[in-house]
Amino acid sequence: MDDLIQRLRKEHQAVFGVEPAVVAYAPGRVEILGNHTDYNEGFVLSAAIDAGIAFGLSPADEDACTLRAADFGESVRFQAVNPGRTDRERWSNYPRGVLAFLRERYGFRPRGFQGTFCGDIPVAAGLSSSAALEISSGLAFSAFHGIVAEKLALAKIGQRAEHEFAGVRCGLLDQISSLFGREQALVFTDFRSLEADTVSLPQGTAFLIADTGVKHTLVDSEYNERRRRCEEAAAAFRRILGPGIAALRDVTRADMMKYRDRLDPDVWKRAAHPVGENERVLTGAEALKRGDAAAFGRLMFESHESSRKYFENSCPELDALVEAAGKIQGVLGARLSGGGFGGSAVVLVEKDRSPAIAASLASAYAAARGRRLEPRVVLPSAGARLVT
Ligand code: GLA
Repeated sequence: MDDLIQRLRKEHQAVFGVEPAVVAYAPGRVEILGNHTDYNEGFVLSAAIDAGIAFGLSPADEDACTLRAADFGESVRFQAVNPGRTDRERWSNYPRGVLAFLRERYGFRPRGFQGTFCGDIPVAAGLSSSAALEISSGLAFSAFHGIVAEKLALAKIGQRAEHEFAGVRCGLLDQISSLFGREQALVFTDFRSLEADTVSLPQGTAFLIADTGVKHTLVDSEYNERRRRCEEAAAAFRRILGPGIAALRDVTRADMMKYRDRLDPDVWKRAAHPVGENERVLTGAEALKRGDAAAFGRLMFESHESSRKYFENSCPELDALVEAAGKIQGVLGARLSGGGFGGSAVVLVEKDRSPAIAASLASAYAAARGRRLEPRVVLPSAGARLVT
């Protein structure tokens, strides 16, 4: 993180001729267990990772804002009072949305600024560089305007930027993980109460993250479609079981089996995934508390199988990767992580063997799919913070 902050300061100074007055940092995240459960008011185990985005601001003499994405060498200009959304530099929609909704929530008068951001999260790998951009910009904009935004308010503002400025109806997982991360621990979140707790990692284990390098072109519309199906399923269960069913969180695996023939088969199939995931997360959290990494790893494999079979948010590359991982000595579990349809898999390994496992996984994946893979150890890390 320190190198990234230094790079940010240099970039800002080189382009704007001054040091940023405010600097914030927010990490990416990895979803460990609990897939598509967040918007179903369920449970997730996740972690903030040791890669993120640094975002710096200095005051401008006018009301206009200039924001520069140092990594892409692109800049945008917009009015502080009305950032608007754009179809051109789409990356800028996240900070634009965050600024607009922060102002709506806290009612300050936005000032012009010069802004720079840069990061070290692989883009489009499913590690939530977008949430890191929302949260780092949100912290920086807050400090710049002299307000203190509560963490949950900031998470919801980031989510709203995704919904209204980027068109993805995501849950709150990415923003909460980025804000509530802890070193050496997983974040356990209840997405109904929005309480985030932490659970320690089992001794002698580590997580590898392996980016398949593929991204389905329809990810956003597929994601929104899955969410709609889950909402349909919850409504169907509400008709069957009564108003106590507020979301799929309230449906059990036993209900799924009992009422199978009362639901549209496609809707049933989609709902089976988050319902199973919720139970796996609760069982998994207990396994972690006992230090039973092997049991936890098995749940990760089951989670992937459920994605593949029911939610159909996997892809041949992710399947090949998880299958290859399952054959390597010292691998305890593997599954797709995040929205799916490409992106990364997360692998739980015996720590001492992680370099050998990474090498075997890369060669097995190259043999299966003819593509390069560079699995790397991710360290569960502290959450977002204001640096200056
Ligand atoms: C994406 C979304 C999250 C969550 C995951 C799937 O990362 O942004 O809100 O739904 O997919 O668990």
